[in-house]
Amino acid sequence: MINGAINDLAKARQELASAQSLEQLEQIRVSYLGRKGLLTEKLSSIKDLPPEDRRAAGQELNRIKRELEGLLESRQAELGKDAEEKDRQQKIDVTLPGFGTERGSRHPVSIILEEIVDIFEGMGFSVEEGPDAETDYYNFTALNFPKDHPARDMQATFYLESGLVLRTHTSPVQIRAMTKLKPPLRVICPGRVYRCDADVSHSPMFHQVEGFQVDRHINFAHLKGVLMQFLKEFFGGDIKIRFRPSFFPFTEPSAEVDIGCLLCGGKGCSACKQSGWMEILGSGMIHPNVLKNVGYDPEQWSGFAFGIGVDRLAMLRYKIDHIRLFYENDLRFLKQFY
Ligand code: PHE
Repeated sequence: MINGAINDLAKARQELASAQSLEQLEQIRVSYLGRKGLLTEKLSSIKDLPPEDRRAAGQELNRIKRELEGLLESRQAELGKDAEEKDRQQKIDVTLPGFGTERGSRHPVSIILEEIVDIFEGMGFSVEEGPDAETDYYNFTALNFPKDHPARDMQATFYLESGLVLRTHTSPVQIRAMTKLKPPLRVICPGRVYRCDADVSHSPMFHQVEGFQVDRHINFAHLKGVLMQFLKEFFGGDIKIRFRPSFFPFTEPSAEVDIGCLLCGGKGCSACKQSGWMEILGSGMIHPNVLKNVGYDPEQWSGFAFGIGVDRLAMLRYKIDHIRLFYENDLRFLKQFY
């Protein structure tokens, strides 16, 4: 019986080596180890042997069985891998063209922001930055906002639980830069700002470039000269500009600048709220209280400051009639800029 089993094992080895599929492997397993398999039958006839031979025969047959099981398993792994590889080869058609790679494009607001910074750098301004989450002191108090000024109202300002505010303008960077540096200075501060506000030309998050110059004998003509030069470079010659008296706690006197709406040519449209003009910046002579707050003597130093609405400039440049388009991340829109 044992010899028979050893022969079975040798035969099974040959059959396993020439098996080409997992199905054939299963047939081989059944014919040796299945319920009526050759080896199974030999194992169950151990009981017919004389008692003294049973133990040795059982041990030997079990060894052969284990060996066969081991062989089956490793062949199964081999054939399984082959099948997977074949499958993969059938699925991949190497002659198909590739997907191609799409190029990203720069965000229109980033393009305009960089352009603005470039123009001012050309006029000798250097860049300073500050945090988006500001203290009340930098965003309001140091900028000469009285304690009960309406601009501190909850409606315009996002207050954070930490007690900080999301800066409502880039003007706090004026305070940070003036505290850090010594006059004379010429600085611009590009960045994100936040206000609880939304319509065609307002978004809760938008961009400003703050700019200011402090020196001896700086006056309103310097402010006007710098802004006119900037607008000429940015828009080319073909625009209408108007300075309009205004109020900011941190400048005196103050002016806002409007551009003749380029979307409708001044006729009136939804983007300019039918006025024919779009407000693009606030400006003025830095208030003596602000200079005092940063330790500059207003008798010796004077300065101007301005804050430009970057998104508005981008709307005018690209003739976009709703600020929301900049923040919806619609690729069909964003792909048109580079
Ligand atoms: N901070 C003002 C605003 O956001 C703009 C401004 C900046 C006005 C500097 C005057 C001087 O509306």
